[in-house]
Amino acid sequence: MGLASNGANVVIADMNEEGVNQTKKDVESLGAKALGVKCNVSDVNDIDNLVKKTMEIFSTIDILVNNAGVTRDNLMMRMDEKDWDLVLSVNLKGPFLLTKAVTHVMMKQRYGRIVKVSSVVGLMGNAGQANYAASKGGLISLTKSVAKEFASRNITCNAVAPGFIETSMTEKLQDKVKESYIKAIPLNRFGTPNDVANAVLFLSSEESGYITGQIIGIDGGMFMR
Ligand SMILES: NC(=O)c1ccc[n+]([C@@H]2O[C@H](COP(=O)([O-])OP(=O)(O)OC[C@H]3O[C@@H](n4cnc5c(N)ncnc54)[C@H](O)[C@@H]3O)[C@@H](O)[C@H]2O)c1
Repeated sequence: MGLASNGANVVIADMNEEGVNQTKKDVESLGAKALGVKCNVSDVNDIDNLVKKTMEIFSTIDILVNNAGVTRDNLMMRMDEKDWDLVLSVNLKGPFLLTKAVTHVMMKQRYGRIVKVSSVVGLMGNAGQANYAASKGGLISLTKSVAKEFASRNITCNAVAPGFIETSMTEKLQDKVKESYIKAIPLNRFGTPNDVANAVLFLSSEESGYITGQIIGIDGGMFMR
């Protein structure tokens, strides 16, 4: 919504069709143009379709935000191979496929802003989240590699690493787990989707043009490098 209220036309790509339709309405209510596409980010045919439709309607792709992500938490000893594969496929292969597809367009434009949504656990690791932490750590390495590969074409690539943000992903956690997290956050509160959106908005803007390959923590000070 932050992008829409700052003048961007927005393509909403998500597996959840109901969510796509609702977000499309929300974006349009801000006066921006929106395209909604049901899309599995780990399916190359869906990605091709997404980029094709986007180009038909908007003729340009200036910004890519890789936000789709899933968790399938478990201790290593109990983690199924299928849960490893799913998490790596959505959280890491998805951004690879989308980056590959949109950089074709961005290279011709000689302009692009790519923002990946990683996680604090991609930096610090987390017991019970080996698959998720590996995917988000991989996303950080992907960010740096893409930043180096496309810098000469005026395409920047950065990542945000949110800590504990109040969304549907975290609402399912038990209260005692939430209490233990808050003790580790110097700013003493959970983050909001707006906290993340503000950083994504800046990294998507022309004004961030001399920043690339960076990882911005949005975690209330939970992890300091
Ligand atoms: N909530 C947090 O505390 C937190 C912390 C750090 C990072 N993150 C990251 O932020 C991003 C957004 O997470 P959220 O908290 O809003 O969770 P969420 O579950 O509300 O949103 C994730 C979205 O990804 C979509 N999705 C799942 N699999 C998909 C697929 N294969 N193709 C397309 N879309 C798919 C879901 O439908 C959903 O709309 C994720 O990448 C997540 O890992 C969240």
